[in-house]
Amino acid sequence: MAPPRTVLVTGAASGIGRALAEHYAARASTLLLLDRAAPDDTAAALAGRAEIRTAGADVRDAAATAAAVAELAAGQPIDRVLHCAGVIAPTSPLAAVDPADVQRVVDINLVGSFNLAHAALPHLRAGSHLALVASLGGLIAGYRYVAYSSSKFGVVGLAEALRMELAQDGITVQVICPGEVTTPLIADELASGDQVQRAVKLMSGQPITPQRAATLIGKGVESGRFMIIPTLKARWLWRVSRVSPTPLRLALTDRAIRQAGG
Ligand SMILES: NC(=O)c1ccc[n+]([C@@H]2O[C@H](COP(=O)([O-])OP(=O)(O)OC[C@H]3O[C@@H](n4cnc5c(N)ncnc54)[C@H](O)[C@@H]3O)[C@@H](O)[C@H]2O)c1
Repeated sequence: MAPPRTVLVTGAASGIGRALAEHYAARASTLLLLDRAAPDDTAAALAGRAEIRTAGADVRDAAATAAAVAELAAGQPIDRVLHCAGVIAPTSPLAAVDPADVQRVVDINLVGSFNLAHAALPHLRAGSHLALVASLGGLIAGYRYVAYSSSKFGVVGLAEALRMELAQDGITVQVICPGEVTTPLIADELASGDQVQRAVKLMSGQPITPQRAATLIGKGVESGRFMIIPTLKARWLWRVSRVSPTPLRLALTDRAIRQAGG
């Protein structure tokens, strides 16, 4: 497979998106970086390693997202799209969940993924990859992940629907489902010290750094695989869910919750 020339990374100001920008700065000639506000810090850190363009857009705004992607692409095709922009809501019991948080998380994570795919489509060509970052929480629900898992299951469905359609044009659609990565996104959750949540999370392995995640995700994207689950234990959990009756994984999860005192 030819190395990508032009790579678009969203959510490039922080966490996995920033680490993926660093990863591709050594491999692509042009990096297009998008975040809610133009990720100029990331661009400054990577100056001299690739041609870098930045833009700001809220992915909830379809028109602004399309305009920002068109401005970044500047009439050239995009070889890889890595859509990392996303948010999480406070992980609360259902009775304490704020409906506004559910709306915000679904709007950014799910509708935002649709908006980004729609905005990128005119700039993709045969050989391009469109990779949407969902989450392991989009395959296996996380404990008290009411809004987040709902939105990420939707992203996996969106990617599957797009995969069938865009394959006809030679465009590879992929979905990335990492377990835990030590970014600002999960800082509050880690600080909360919720033992039950930790027990359920640890079923998919220890957290990894954004740099490690970027290396594994980059490898997965270049492999052309549809489903990219970067770490071994998380892949194992997913496979158990697929090859055994669902009650086995639910029983394992319930046991982890009981053992953690939930
Ligand atoms: N950190 C993890 O454990 C983990 C695990 C699985 C999946 N993910 C997913 O990976 C992706 C990146 O998360 P991260 O951990 O790097 O988080 P992060 O908070 O470090 O980075 C997310 C980035 O998305 C941007 N963003 C948020 N809302 C936006 C909007 N409306 N428009 C444009 N940009 C917006 C933020 O400004 C930020 O730069 C997310 O989709 C997240 O759900 C994270």
